[in-house]
Amino acid sequence: MPVSVDQTSVDPSRNESAPANTSASADTAAQAPAGKKDEALRPHAEDAFAAELAALAAQDDRPRPARWRMSPWAVATYLLGGTLPDGTVITPKYVGPRRIVEVAVTTLATDRALLLLGVPGTAKTWVSEHLAAAVSGDSTLLVQGTAGTPEEAIRYGWNYAQLLAHGPSRDALVPSPVMRAMSEGMTARVEELTRIPADVQDTLITILSEKTLPIPELGQEVQAVRGFNLIATANDRDRGVNDLSSALRRRFNTVVLPLPESADAEVDIVSRRVDQMGRSLDLPTAPDGIDEIRRVVTVFRELRDGVTADGRTKLKSPSGTLSTAEAISVVTNGLALAAHFGDGVLRPSDVAAGILGAVVRDPAADRVIWQEYLEAVVRERDGWKDFYRACREVSA
Ligand SMILES: Nc1ncnc2c1ncn2[C@@H]1O[C@H](COP(=O)(O)OP(=O)(O)OP(=O)(O)O)[C@@H](O)[C@H]1O
Ligand SMILES: [Mg+2]
Repeated sequence: MPVSVDQTSVDPSRNESAPANTSASADTAAQAPAGKKDEALRPHAEDAFAAELAALAAQDDRPRPARWRMSPWAVATYLLGGTLPDGTVITPKYVGPRRIVEVAVTTLATDRALLLLGVPGTAKTWVSEHLAAAVSGDSTLLVQGTAGTPEEAIRYGWNYAQLLAHGPSRDALVPSPVMRAMSEGMTARVEELTRIPADVQDTLITILSEKTLPIPELGQEVQAVRGFNLIATANDRDRGVNDLSSALRRRFNTVVLPLPESADAEVDIVSRRVDQMGRSLDLPTAPDGIDEIRRVVTVFRELRDGVTADGRTKLKSPSGTLSTAEAISVVTNGLALAAHFGDGVLRPSDVAAGILGAVVRDPAADRVIWQEYLEAVVRERDGWKDFYRACREVSA
């Protein structure tokens, strides 16, 4: 029986919580505010990184756009990491080209909204959450886009008990996260914009161009106050950006988040995130995990690119996305296996099942691709014998 772990059940973007370790507070527990938030399985960015955000805001003397918690420069530093004049270390949240982050942050200070676009697992949601946390101190004004997202989720709904008892009034109105962001001058987020039906998406046009949300039932409107802007994310693999009407697309500046450019960059991202997630799940840190992380990243990159790292052997790519996010899941699962059923050291057998689960999505075609890769590449590679054996065992 092949053993495989379905990575879809472990979504790093939803399970991690990461009280960062900064020199401002070496004790990770000190980063999160006291009380119930401490216990959240996944604290919001503004809670998990409260100490970093406070240090940045305190030491930032550059000009801030209206209602921003800090200057655009400080927001970019929060995302990319750095050291403040008093020695506080800001951990990098996003690992990638600085210019991308600068363009994204600057867009939020203009009257155009920001669209983060990219293949799955390129940190679109992650970046959007951290941008909202840094700019507005609140990343929770969020609309999740699905095929069933109604207009009310973007505009407003009604409390029907109130509506029936007293008729339409501001008290009976239930504002959407976007409406709240408009009236409070905050950052709203719309996830997976292109999954929302076109007519519902178009609700955003007036909001983004006129900066107003009419409430015809009351003969009123909510005007956006300064500080309001919107970050949308869209996946260019599921359904294309073509699904955005051109009228709506013109209201956005599009920033494309790329896949990590080198294996080293991807190993860096995976090890950072695995370390943060491991701490939040109380997993012991694996001393020699880096070799296994490098191996997972190599396998994912080679299969994704359809060619081995040395460029010599052409490969077929499996149907799964094999994103950085999935590599993070595979390694985190492996660490949990090593911690609970092994000796705490991450070994090939701890990641093999996870890799198989991520690669073989289509039981027929992907399995053949995986077997070919195992025999042609993994078997022949120096120092990969253990890994080859572990993979054979789970795929047999
Ligand atoms: N360049 C990167 N820098 C830092 N973290 C990254 C990077 N790329 C991926 N990640 C990590 O990958 C995980 C998944 O990212 P996220 O969920 O934001 O992806 P996404 O682009 O929204 O994917 P999807 O299209 O599936 O929604 C996050 O935990 C994030 O930290
Ligand atoms: Mg996402």
